Amino acid sequence: MKAWCVSRGWVDGLFMVLLLNFALTTEARAQIRHYQWKVDYLYFSPDCIEKVIIAINGQYPGPTIRAHAGDTIVVELQNFLPTAGVVIHWHGIHQIGTPWFDGTAFVSQCPINPGETFTYKFIVDRAGTFFYHGHIGMQRAAGLYGSLIVDLRHGEKEPFAYDGDLRIAINDWWHRSVYDQETGLISIPFRFVGDPQSLLIEGRGRYNCSLVPTSFVLGSGDCVNCNISNPQCQPFVLPVEPGKTYRLRIANVASLSSLNFILEGHKLTIVEADGYYVDPVVVENLDLYSGETYSVLFTANQDASRNYWAAINVRGRKSSTPTGLAVLNYLLNPSSMLPSTPSPVSPAWNDFDYSLNQSKLILARKGYEVPPPAKADRELIFLTTQNKIDGRIKWAINNITYAPTSTPVLAALKYGWKKAYDLNPPPDYPSRPFNISAPPPNVNAKFGSGVYKFQFDSVVDVIIQNTNTLNPNNSEIHPWHLHGHDFWVLGHGKGVFHPATDSQSYNLKNAPLKNTVAVFPYGWVALRFRADNPGVWPFHCHIEAHLHMGMGVIFAEGWDRLPKLPKSILGCGLSKFYIP
Ligand code: C2O
Ligand code: CU
Repeated sequence: MKAWCVSRGWVDGLFMVLLLNFALTTEARAQIRHYQWKVDYLYFSPDCIEKVIIAINGQYPGPTIRAHAGDTIVVELQNFLPTAGVVIHWHGIHQIGTPWFDGTAFVSQCPINPGETFTYKFIVDRAGTFFYHGHIGMQRAAGLYGSLIVDLRHGEKEPFAYDGDLRIAINDWWHRSVYDQETGLISIPFRFVGDPQSLLIEGRGRYNCSLVPTSFVLGSGDCVNCNISNPQCQPFVLPVEPGKTYRLRIANVASLSSLNFILEGHKLTIVEADGYYVDPVVVENLDLYSGETYSVLFTANQDASRNYWAAINVRGRKSSTPTGLAVLNYLLNPSSMLPSTPSPVSPAWNDFDYSLNQSKLILARKGYEVPPPAKADRELIFLTTQNKIDGRIKWAINNITYAPTSTPVLAALKYGWKKAYDLNPPPDYPSRPFNISAPPPNVNAKFGSGVYKFQFDSVVDVIIQNTNTLNPNNSEIHPWHLHGHDFWVLGHGKGVFHPATDSQSYNLKNAPLKNTVAVFPYGWVALRFRADNPGVWPFHCHIEAHLHMGMGVIFAEGWDRLPKLPKSILGCGLSKFYIP
């Protein structure tokens, strides 16, 4: 009898614990995370050369946002830049129900003017590795970015184990100001940004100060301050305990460069791409295109008496930029103990087959596949070309170069302001015939601000067809990024896409879901997505210079289903006069 009572009590107790646990986890789901950000110019020396950057709360990279799926993020942003507007895009976050907080200037909102405060408020709907960045002009390249990591909902488990969670954002870096870079890109003659001076890992790199003319070195008063002992440019340190396994999250936030990541002496197991689990594949090094994020697992199973390099090199473009280096620090070695080994070397810059093959390895993880719809309701073929308009070099999609509007397109569609953008829809198909292996015979493109409007909930295929640039025998990588959605990557191919035959080879089984994918030189990539997120969504090349030269389009669906837009996003262009 007594035994029964005891066991009964135990069962009750367990039940109570479970109940309490449930109540707690349910409650924890709705966490609101508040941030207050001041965006300002700052003198900073990410690679030991001092320049003016755009920082958040005096930090570069900006503060990391870490949340659980389902949380609400509230960012109260104050713009302290005296002469420039600001917006922040939350790259990889879908903004379901809040398309006005997508943070794209003149698409989802008006720029936040100097001195103004603006509040972003949105839900991070799914777990994964993401980032945020400025989305007006080329402010991302000025340093306006940071990490956004979303952990699983409480109680959910990753399908792989690790002892520690590390993260880095990687990018390329120039000494010229972004305003200088932007101006060069739209000038006659064209002035390209050129090779980056440095590659940065988590905002740190090291420029060789001996390359700076001596008259300019530290102490000369003006011009260049190059100081390799500045703490701002000391190598970023990844601390690990020998024998343990780590998840390393990597985001390529580069302005221009495709980057290859190497962890000296360690193999990498790819487990996540753009917030989705992928079939684990082991690689020696990893290509990341601007806008992509990955998680890799590695085990600290090498000689623990030394440290190792974490390294990035430019891929896809002939470059003289030195390797970007961070330190994989085996504890308890001092973090200042730099490896005596040479900088790791990546595959040849023009080994595009290597890149293509690695892209093809990225497939949905078994048991986590989300199969794409069997067919599309609409197909778009985007011939992407380098062109000229009035003597200025541009990029075009089906011969249209995107010309930003001065009114947020979201408001223009929602309220039917017909003068705010081009009412002519841009073409679904390129005009034929075209030749992808030579510069376009007619170099002239046209400006446009038309919108691809989709039936709500319809399925859309986009095939991006790469071509030769204006220079003979040259074609470039373009990482295409879609806002508000993820797309299935149905396939990559070389040469010209042939609709009837190439669509037969689409991967409809375990196609990966991504928000960014690279199209390789002279090749094509086929994507499928469901237009099920009411709003207006840019789809563009993630290279800052290319976007600035018009390489993007605007997609929209379901805008009529949206409630009244928040007033805080309006006030520019026609929305000045027509605020509803
Ligand atoms: Cu990360 Cu529209 O960009
Ligand atoms: Cu591009």
